Amino acid sequence: MMRLDKLLGHTGWGTRKELKELCKGGHVTVNGTVCRDSSRKVDPFADAVAVDGEAVVYEEHIYLMLNKPAGVVSATEDNLSPTVIGLLPQKYQGAGLFPVGRLDKDTTGLLLITNDGVWAHGITAPKKHTDKVYEAVVAGTIPDDVGERFASGLVLADGLHCLPARAEQTGEDRLTIVVQEGKFHQVKRMCAAVGLRVTKLQRRSIGALVLDEALQPGDFRPLTEAERELPFSSKNPFQQEKNMVL
Ligand code: URA
Repeated sequence: MMRLDKLLGHTGWGTRKELKELCKGGHVTVNGTVCRDSSRKVDPFADAVAVDGEAVVYEEHIYLMLNKPAGVVSATEDNLSPTVIGLLPQKYQGAGLFPVGRLDKDTTGLLLITNDGVWAHGITAPKKHTDKVYEAVVAGTIPDDVGERFASGLVLADGLHCLPARAEQTGEDRLTIVVQEGKFHQVKRMCAAVGLRVTKLQRRSIGALVLDEALQPGDFRPLTEAERELPFSSKNPFQQEKNMVL
C-alpha cells in the first residue's frame, strides 16, 4: 500500500502540495469515488485511481528521451541556468527524475532522463563500453589521418589516454565521431588533440538507441519498453549504414 499523493507524484501528476489541492478540488477518484484526502493509502496495482477521469497507471519508473536544446544544463537544479528537468511539464516535477549522464550546456541531441538509478548506472558505467555517436561541426583543418588517429587512442593535452574511438569526415567541416567513454568534454578534447575546435556538437545515439528525428529541440517522449533495452546494446546502428565505415 502507498499514500495516494506518493502514487500520483511518482506517476508525474505534480508535487505533494499540488496533489493535496488536486484531491481537495475533487479531481481524484479511487475505485470510482471522489477522494479528497491525498494521504489515503491505496494499492497501486489493485485500486483504480484516476485524475479527471484519466486512469493513473502505476509504473515503478519513468524513462524519457529528450532532444536536448543548447543553453540548458544536464542537471536537476542549477542556480544560474535552466535545467533539462525544468524543460519537462509540471506533472513530472515530483517524480525524482534525473539526466542519465551529461551533455555540455551547448551540446544538443539525445539525452535520457529517468528515475531508475539501476538502469541509468547500467548505461553510464565506464566498463560497459557503449558506443555514443556524435555529429561535430569543427573549425580548423581536418587532418587526412583523423580516422587513424582516433582509432589508435588519442592522448589528450592533460596526458589522458583515450580508448580507441572512431572518426569519419562527413563534410568539409563535419565529423561523425563514435566514443565509448564519457569523460568531461570528451569529444571536444579529443578534437582539440588533432587541432580542431568543436563549434557544434549533437549526440545522435547511445548504444542502439537513436534520437527520434520527430523530436524538435526541447521535445521529449517516453521510451517504449523495447527501446529501454537498446542503450545496452554496445554497438551503434550506423555501422550498417551505406558508406559508413564506423
Ligand atoms: N563530449 C563533449 O565534449 N561534450 C559533450 O557534451 C558530450 C561529449
